[in-house]
Amino acid sequence: MELPPDGVFFGPSEAMKIVRQRVARAAGLNVPILILGESGTGKEVLAHFIHDNSPWCKGPFIKVNCPAIPGTLLESELFGFQKGAFTGALAAKPGRIELAQGGTLFLDEIAELDANLQAKLLHVLQDGRFTRIGDHEEKRMDARVICATNRQLQNEIETGGFRADLFYRINVISIQLPPLRDRRDDIPLLAEYLREHFNRRFQREAPPLPNETLHLLQQRDWPGNVRELENCMARYVVLGSEEAFSFENSEPKVSDFAIQLTADGNIPLKSIAQQVTRRMERDVILKVLQANHWNRRKAAQVLKISYRALLYKVRQAGLPSKRPRQQADPDAELASAESAAPGV
Ligand SMILES: Nc1ncnc2c1ncn2[C@@H]1O[C@H](COP(=O)(O)OP(=O)(O)OP(=O)(O)O)[C@@H](O)[C@H]1O
Ligand SMILES: [Mg+2]
Repeated sequence: MELPPDGVFFGPSEAMKIVRQRVARAAGLNVPILILGESGTGKEVLAHFIHDNSPWCKGPFIKVNCPAIPGTLLESELFGFQKGAFTGALAAKPGRIELAQGGTLFLDEIAELDANLQAKLLHVLQDGRFTRIGDHEEKRMDARVICATNRQLQNEIETGGFRADLFYRINVISIQLPPLRDRRDDIPLLAEYLREHFNRRFQREAPPLPNETLHLLQQRDWPGNVRELENCMARYVVLGSEEAFSFENSEPKVSDFAIQLTADGNIPLKSIAQQVTRRMERDVILKVLQANHWNRRKAAQVLKISYRALLYKVRQAGLPSKRPRQQADPDAELASAESAAPGV
């Protein structure tokens, strides 16, 4: 993973200054760190950053993407196994806990661990020891543990999805990464870094963004956080035009809706809610029509509404009743440019 320089990663915003101070204090300590933050806020980048600035930086950085590995396999991936431990265990294999010795073990999306593995992980963290599956010998765990999640673990604990005792073990120091909308001061620097990054990667020469565009970017709420900004800058570099910044289909903001004060000063919530619902319906219907090659009967089935209701809604939303002529799809262009480009 190519890390941005730390001046870019943290940026000038107040919100990230707090993060930076916390990271500086925690990186060198041999205690688990829990990184919290919405999707796309840079949790994985931060985990790498902490590793690189820790006494374990010479050792390996081993990532475990908890939801990507099915439950039964995850146990053997984490703990490793001895030859013959189960059918198919033809040779002994170290697990990721063992591979991380002397380095950092990064448990990503920790909230997705099932109850069985939560119990086993708690055991390892408490004792500092683990055993390969099918082995009798205990090994000492010698890795700094960093966990990350975009879920509210407190809620998961309340609903029984996550063990409170494991939470206290992994949450010795927690670092909350702010969403991009809470660090708008960082957007110009991030956009400039990403422009240069993608210019290098795609061998383009997209010019710096004018101030008005940067200002526009600073006003957005960025539900997909830095990842969304990153995609947007990649599109800008690939397309070579500011078309990448037309956010017609982006999440509606309150200010997008006509809020009329009535004569008595009331704001009619019902009519605003209707507008929001219509807009959301329009977006969903459009996506389903596109996914089903404009087959309206199929789309109606998928949406679980009658064919007639769909026709009515299509008309009401001002959507075309037939598939429009093929238009250039910036995402497809980006995907093909990315597959042609060398990896980062
Ligand atoms: N400060 C930053 N500067 C440059 N790029 C960044 C920064 N923060 C995040 N990114 C980029 O944004 C993308 C998302 O970051 P990352 O994968 O670390 O987020 P995440 O919080 O782990 O998201 P998710 O919860 O969806 O896994 C990555 O491609 C990363 O390179
Ligand atoms: Mg992540």
